[in-house]
Amino acid sequence: AEGDPEAGEKVFNKCKACHALGADAKNKVGPVLNGIIGAPAGQVPDFKYSDVLLEMAADGLVWDEANLAAYLTKPRDFMKGTKMSFAGLRKEADVQNVLAYIASYE
Ligand code: HEM
Repeated sequence: AEGDPEAGEKVFNKCKACHALGADAKNKVGPVLNGIIGAPAGQVPDFKYSDVLLEMAADGLVWDEANLAAYLTKPRDFMKGTKMSFAGLRKEADVQNVLAYIASYE
């Protein structure tokens, strides 16, 4: 990713209420995000996803950077019915930076 992971750590403050990263991370309102970039959607153990996320996962949704950027920009447009209650990141740079930060957690 072309983003800046340090700037992305600040952007991740918007995600932290619901998502954790790191060795001791546990599912919260949202699933743990370790290794999510490039991973198939809907695969975090013991997390109860929405039906629509599971349908898109069954249709082959992979969290490549393009799909993550679309989801994080407008979650409810990318995935109608997602249970991620997040309005979205409005700035393209915030998206790139948060992805660079998340990419540092495998
Ligand atoms: C799902 C990232 C903010 C709650 C996801 C997924 C990603 C993601 C990549 C899909 C995971 C998978 O398929 O395993 C982010 C990022 C955020 C953010 C980077 C900040 C920029 C939030 C916030 C909340 C939240 C603030 C809670 C208010 C959820 C929930 C799901 C989810 C409940 C499951 C969605 C479903 O099953 O439809 N998030 N998220 N997220 N997130 Fe977030």
